[in-house]
Parts: sequence; structure tokens; C-alpha cells
Amino acid sequence: MELEGRTILVTGAAGGIGSAIATACARHGGTVIAVDRVEMPHDPSLPAEVGARIITHLADISTAVGCSALLAEVLAGFEAADGLVNCAGVMRRGSLLDVDEDDWAASYSVNVDAVMRLCRGLLPSLIASGSGAVVNIASQWGLHAAGRHIAYNSSKAAVVSFSQSLARDYGGEGLRVNAICPGEILTPMVRQKLETSNIAEAVLAESIPLGRLGRPEEVAELTTFLLSDRSSFISGAAIEITGAQQVG
Ligand SMILES: NC(=O)c1ccc[n+]([C@@H]2O[C@H](COP(=O)([O-])OP(=O)(O)OC[C@H]3O[C@@H](n4cnc5c(N)ncnc54)[C@H](O)[C@@H]3O)[C@@H](O)[C@H]2O)c1
Repeated sequence: MELEGRTILVTGAAGGIGSAIATACARHGGTVIAVDRVEMPHDPSLPAEVGARIITHLADISTAVGCSALLAEVLAGFEAADGLVNCAGVMRRGSLLDVDEDDWAASYSVNVDAVMRLCRGLLPSLIASGSGAVVNIASQWGLHAAGRHIAYNSSKAAVVSFSQSLARDYGGEGLRVNAICPGEILTPMVRQKLETSNIAEAVLAESIPLGRLGRPEEVAELTTFLLSDRSSFISGAAIEITGAQQVG
């Protein structure tokens, strides 16, 4: 129960990784504000007392107005936020001549701008909490660019640099900020990628030395660790969770 008494906002909480993170935070005793633009899937196996700690909140964070409205409601309803996990993400495929303005804007508005806006809005509360921690879900491809994903790769590289900048600028006030850089984790986003590119999961798994794709719960474990005091000297890090896969 290492997150007991803490309030943690998780975006993308209806997605594969985000729902695992929201659930793991609640299992560890945290109160979770689970934000997504779609409903979080119901997990009948979740104990009632854990489910009761997850407060779902529908919001579209792709605009400044959407983020402001979310922040106003969150700050009005909760005394403070102790943790923020920016997990919502959009992947638009293609190299530069394939992606259009809309692909670029969609990628940056959610993957980068929303991260900046939610961090800025919650910063005073996170600092006041005394044990504030931010975890931004970037990507392995933000560190080592994969081919034909220029908007996604570069937006995730921005998330890594943003996380390190925030860690350096506010470490003196006790805030910790880290980025997680997952490789191939089996979620709806990756299933869709496999379907559209006609690649079998087993073939993708062959490119991963551990011989399989990652599970959302494995990213969630790392996230709760980075939110908790167990990681009290880890800040400004970009941590890869990839099964030792090499990109490129
Ligand atoms: N699955 C992987 O292999 C993998 C690898 C590296 C990084 N990531 C990153 O992990 C995060 C989660 O990915 P996932 O695989 O669980 O994807 P997913 O598609 O299952 O989940 C993403 C969630 O973000 C939400 N979202 C998107 N736009 C939103 C908006 N405007 N407002 C509110 N919510 C919005 C979606 O509704 C969805 O529930 C993403 O940031 C992704 O880039 C995933």
C-alpha cells in the first residue's frame, strides 16, 4: 500500500497501459482520477474496495480548453494531487511526405501539449504535496527513432526532454519527474499496428530478446515504483522497458 493517502491523476486510463496503471495505483492504496475521452473498461475481477478508489473522468485533453476544464474540476474536487501520470497517447504512422498537418497536430496536441498543460496546472499542488512525482509515458522510439513514424517519434523525444527539464527545474522543490520508454507492449494500440501492417505477433516477438511482447501490468509496476518513495532518488531518468529490443 505504498501509495496510500495519495491522489494520482492518470490520463489515457481507458487504454491498455493506462488502465493497468490506474488499477495498479489503486491496488497500492492510491486514489486515482482516471481520465480518458472514452469510458474505462469495467474489470469484474477488481475487488470492490480497489474499484472504489478509481474515480473515472471523461475529458478530451487535446486542446487547451479541454485541459483547463479538467484541471478546474480536479482542483475543485480534490485537495491536492500527489502524482501525475501522463499516459494518453496518439500514434500516427508515416514518414514526412505521408503525414499531413492533422497527423502532426493530433500527435503533438496529445503526446506533448497535454503533458505540458497538465504538468503546469498541477505543479503547485504536486510541489505542495512534498512527495510529488510525475511519470510521463514516452516511448523507446523517443530515444531511438523507428522508421516511418516521424510525428510519433519526435513527439515522444519531446516528452523525454520535457521530463528531464522539469526534473532539473523543480528538483529543488522536492518534485521528481521521470519518463518511461516502453518498447512493444501488447495493447490495442499495438494490436492495431500489427493488423494494419499485417505482421503476426509471433514475428514481432522474434525481434525481442526476451521472446515476447511486454504486458501493460509490467509498465504499471514500474510506474507505481516511480510514483512511490521507493524511488526517492530517481529523477530526470528515461527508463527503457523493452525486453532488450533494439530499434533500427
Ligand atoms: N503499447 C506500446 O507498445 C507502447 C509503446 C511505447 C509507448 N507507448 C505509449 O503508452 C501510452 C499508452 O499506450 P497504449 O498502448 O495503452 O495505447 P491505447 O491506445 O490503448 O491507449 C491510449 C489512450 O489514450 C486515450 N487518449 C487519446 N487521445 C486522448 C485525448 N485527446 N483525450 C483523452 N484521452 C485520450 C485513448 O482514448 C486511449 O484510451 C501512449 O502514450 C503510447 O504512446 C505504448
